[in-house]
Amino acid sequence: MSAATYAVPSSGFRLSKEHLAVAVPVAVIAAAGGFLVSHYLNRRSCKKGQVNTCVHKDSPKVVHSFDMEDIGTKAVYCRCWKSKKFPYCDGAHTKHNEETGDNVGPLIIKKKDA
Ligand code: FES
Repeated sequence: MSAATYAVPSSGFRLSKEHLAVAVPVAVIAAAGGFLVSHYLNRRSCKKGQVNTCVHKDSPKVVHSFDMEDIGTKAVYCRCWKSKKFPYCDGAHTKHNEETGDNVGPLIIKKKDA
């Protein structure tokens, strides 16, 4: 074995210094590329998992507030984020549940005797 050759013991595998000079940077670039692609794909899949797909998407946070006195005897609020009348339920959760196998439904607030 010459001084410029590196051997893996008992494998018969040998690399010259010139091959190592190419192989090491290629391995480092491949590892960095794999990490970046994995990181990018993970971020995309998180976005796909958003609950709110259509309600006030131009707003950084969707918040509604109601005074108890204004609710009346009964109010039905959407929890599936599919209602065209959000924040009120319009029954869109039924189609969502049929299509996805989910089991979401509205929040119903009513007076005890209503
Ligand atoms: S439409 Fe969303 S819970 Fe009914």
